Amino acid sequence: MAPALARPLALTLPLTLPLARPLPLPLTLPLALPLTLALSRGAAVDSFAEKECPMRDLQNRTALVTGASKGIGVYIAQALAAEGMNLILAARSADKLEQVADALRATGRRVLCIPTDLSDRSSLHELVNRAEGEGGGVDVLVNNAGVEDWMTFDQLAVELIDEAIDVNLRAPVVLSRLLLPRMRERGRGHIVNIASLAGLGPVAYAEPYCLTKHGLIGFTRSLRATVRNENYPVSCSVVCPGLVDAGMYEDATRDFGVKAPLALGSSPPGRVARAVVRAIKRDLPEIIVNPIPYRLPLAIGLLAPRLAQWMVQWLGISKFFGIIARQRGRQAH
Ligand SMILES: NC(=O)c1ccc[n+]([C@@H]2O[C@H](COP(=O)([O-])OP(=O)(O)OC[C@H]3O[C@@H](n4cnc5c(N)ncnc54)[C@H](OP(=O)(O)O)[C@@H]3O)[C@@H](O)[C@H]2O)c1
Repeated sequence: MAPALARPLALTLPLTLPLARPLPLPLTLPLALPLTLALSRGAAVDSFAEKECPMRDLQNRTALVTGASKGIGVYIAQALAAEGMNLILAARSADKLEQVADALRATGRRVLCIPTDLSDRSSLHELVNRAEGEGGGVDVLVNNAGVEDWMTFDQLAVELIDEAIDVNLRAPVVLSRLLLPRMRERGRGHIVNIASLAGLGPVAYAEPYCLTKHGLIGFTRSLRATVRNENYPVSCSVVCPGLVDAGMYEDATRDFGVKAPLALGSSPPGRVARAVVRAIKRDLPEIIVNPIPYRLPLAIGLLAPRLAQWMVQWLGISKFFGIIARQRGRQAH
């Protein structure tokens, strides 16, 4: 407990003490300490929770990873394979899935590819049935597939709003709903949802993306509260990356010549993959993956939404997404 407490204290006390400074001294520490723990990554609390983890040992268990044909999903699949897991990979591009699968099979893992369009509602049942039948059952579900639609909202095609809701939100929720009873029957399971910092704060030119990622975080929080209250042997986590040097951000840097604002930075995809493994093995509720700590600005945003809005603009985050949106708008005409 003591080492787990030391890190969050060392990281956040210098920030929280000045905040509480105007208060009389007897109030400063009682206020700063809980704030410090709340703003930290929860390491101290997690060290207690670890004992109850339903999925500490991943060896020879099976994970279903959606969006595993490119980008971050490939790194997640590799990280889970390195833990000794067998994989079921889903995305639309069958050939890309097979390439990823071949590389994983070469490491000795069993891999099944199930080409699936997650925006097609009927295909979700088929994916689950095949994963449970041919795949032998799903112990870990990683809802990673996602689409972005960074564009000026009044120019955005309505079909893209539907696609974002179906792929980023509806599919993870329905897959979780369909797999949860099977996980309960087997007595183990973990669901990891890949959301985004855009699910925790305001991001301009990304309304459907933001809405679906906020929804995914809300869904995970609610489900986690339920499974704990019901004592299910299953748990769930949400991982919230900022910009990642792979997938959709890498595509945007290539296509639109943008670079992450200094105030945001970007993370290597391996960090997101390691966060997924950590979330499962230590049963962590929420992990933010970003080079710059974001819990304090997010906490300030809750207390003062106008200030949060100003910060997003001032730090150049709105400008970053605005450049992409304007270029996309020009391409569309
Ligand atoms: N990269 C970042 O900076 C970043 C930051 C924060 C959060 N994230 C989140 O991380 C996750 C992965 O993103 P990424 O950057 O790796 O994106 P990406 O490179 O665009 O990959 C997206 C994956 O989702 C799959 N997918 C898209 N639409 C699908 C559909 N209708 N049915 C089935 N699969 C579909 C794609 O495969 P097919 O095209 O073959 O179907 C692909 O495998 C997303 O949830 C994203 O929101 C990314």
